[in-house]
Amino acid sequence: MTYHHSYAQSITDPAAFWAEQAQAVAWYRKPTQTLEQNADGTHRWFADGSLNSCYLALDRQIELGRGEQPALIYDSPVTGVQQVFTYSQLCEEVARLAGLLRQLGVGKGDGVIIYMPMVPQAAMAMLACARIGAVHSVVFGGFAANELALRIDDARPTLLLTASCGLEFDRVIEYKPLVDRALQLARHQPRKVLVLQRPQKLAQLQAGRDLDWQAALSAAEAVAPVALGAADPLYIMYTSGTTGKPKGIVRENGGNAVALCYAMRHVYGMQAGDVWWGISDVGWVVGHSLIVYGPLMSGCTTVFYEGKPIRTPDAAAYWRVIEQYRVNALFCAPTAMRAIRKEDPDGAGVSAHDLSSLRQLFLAGEKLDSSTHAWLQAVTGKAVHDHWWQTETGWPVTAPCVGLAGSAARPGSSNRAVPGYHVRVVDEQGQLLGPNQQGAIVIALPLPPGCSQTLWGDHPRYLQAYLQTYPGYYHTGDGGYLDDEGFVYIMGRTDDVINVSGHRLSTGEMEDLVACHPAVAECAVIGVHDEIKGQVPLALVVLKDGEQIAEAQLLVDLVGRVREAIGPLACFNRVRLVKRLPKTRSGKILRAVLRKIADGQAYVPPSTLDDPAVLAEIEAVLADLPRAG
Ligand code: COA
Ligand code: AMP
Repeated sequence: MTYHHSYAQSITDPAAFWAEQAQAVAWYRKPTQTLEQNADGTHRWFADGSLNSCYLALDRQIELGRGEQPALIYDSPVTGVQQVFTYSQLCEEVARLAGLLRQLGVGKGDGVIIYMPMVPQAAMAMLACARIGAVHSVVFGGFAANELALRIDDARPTLLLTASCGLEFDRVIEYKPLVDRALQLARHQPRKVLVLQRPQKLAQLQAGRDLDWQAALSAAEAVAPVALGAADPLYIMYTSGTTGKPKGIVRENGGNAVALCYAMRHVYGMQAGDVWWGISDVGWVVGHSLIVYGPLMSGCTTVFYEGKPIRTPDAAAYWRVIEQYRVNALFCAPTAMRAIRKEDPDGAGVSAHDLSSLRQLFLAGEKLDSSTHAWLQAVTGKAVHDHWWQTETGWPVTAPCVGLAGSAARPGSSNRAVPGYHVRVVDEQGQLLGPNQQGAIVIALPLPPGCSQTLWGDHPRYLQAYLQTYPGYYHTGDGGYLDDEGFVYIMGRTDDVINVSGHRLSTGEMEDLVACHPAVAECAVIGVHDEIKGQVPLALVVLKDGEQIAEAQLLVDLVGRVREAIGPLACFNRVRLVKRLPKTRSGKILRAVLRKIADGQAYVPPSTLDDPAVLAEIEAVLADLPRAG
């Protein structure tokens, strides 16, 4: 099957195309309906199909003869542990954990929050939820208690699963006190908290509420997977929107299984038995699609890494893992490769390892800058591909489809639309733009299977955020253009979302925190270029008249506030004082202009600007910022 043929069919007859792809999934009941449209413009895929995602990831693979094949390889340079779980072993662990969850009162449709570091039990917890039809929501460990509390109140979990601690380089981060604090802040309380005690730091358990994971598990009995409807939710993944309230992206079982099996094979070129490494964290969408569900449902071995690209113990860590486990392909964020390059610019660590198993590297999460792309390709001698997707889509929107003949890759671009995605560019009025014209990147409806069709408990917000801006299209929030051969170039977000180390964060949320400081009259938080992390937040602050606070004290206060409310992952540590901010005559801060000034890009002062002289002041304050090369 060629890329061009597949792509054309997926756009002209999506129902026929996806009905065929759905054959790759072992449904309990095959769907007879492939695609239906709801009155509000959203779509339903495989509505009458029935399946179980955990069964597909584990039991099915054993039925196909992969019981003794490594399913998950846990490699933890921070603890020195390396452990292999075959499909049979993983299935046994998951089935018992699912039994425990059920024993603790978790049933189909119930929420379960997982706030854990990169230990295999986190993946087991996800799969155990999937097995009994519970809806998991993994919260990244770098989020503060307040963010966890927001998610607890939104997902209303029956159970919360955590670990006593995580490890960041050589530092132990206690998770349990954060959970305790979050539960003090949250209105909703789960019935129980299941705590995995790690030897690096044991947690205090609260009698009556907290349970020791291992002790509770020892008394549990294995349970079988339950049949679920294709549209039943598999998980909620919270992501930053433009406001302080995170958006609960809902992933359905049916579409997710079909899309991930398609993507692993045709986008990433993986076959059963191959070794795949999704370098991320289970707290992000990549962890769901490319560490747990995608590779396991495809019969691959997934590498589960609890470490960093550098300093665990050195900048050759990734190359060591590739050699040791004969990794065939991987996913990684550009920021990690920039960190490695900084410490090992000549690629000595690469040369010291045998990368002969590795076919290619896929990068995403933020733009792959051409310098990092060229360096990575040169030191590894492998094909390096940029590709683009979002939490909402759950799988790649644009990518070279290495599993399809005739699919080209073009450095500098995020590559062409993957079959299923009709990617277009529109102007502010929603009019289609031609090749090489820059505008808002949108996807013509229907979105393919796997893409979120709603937000947890807030369908109107889904419609408003994604479908109402440009009727007939899904609004990605990214700007860019397509060239005349259909290659897509992502230029960045068009909203107040920034990307720090491949982590998506809301500047609006940070602004709210900065604005609450008693010395601050008003502020704007924008993303500015960072050599390693891609972007980091910078606050431009106007002090109240007569306010005498020193800039250094203000910085300490604001950094503390953001770390406390959002978490260390925001990397908020830059504040500049300005006399005023550029605004429209109606008083709206011109953040898009501020972003352009910070990036050193040309801009046209908007005609609505109240006082053009303010721009020169801002340019002077931001003149020393590092700029993207
Ligand atoms: N649990 C608790 N804290 C965490 C955490 C986690 N899972 N992940 C990050 N943090 C904390 C860090 O300890 C750090 O805290 P500090 O400010 O007190 O030191 C802060 O969040 C920022 O961490 P990070 O962004 O990881 O920066 P770093 O300087 O510690 O490390 C890199 C730099 C490049 C090594 C690191 O950012 C990295 O590995 N990036 C790759 C990210 C990635 O794979 N993204 C893929 C998303 S799909
Ligand atoms: P997340 O939902 O956290 O995965 O973030 C998705 C956002 O990251 C996208 O909307 C883009 O802004 C950005 N992004 C992801 N991949 C790329 C890429 N390859 N190039 C440019 N931006 C990207």
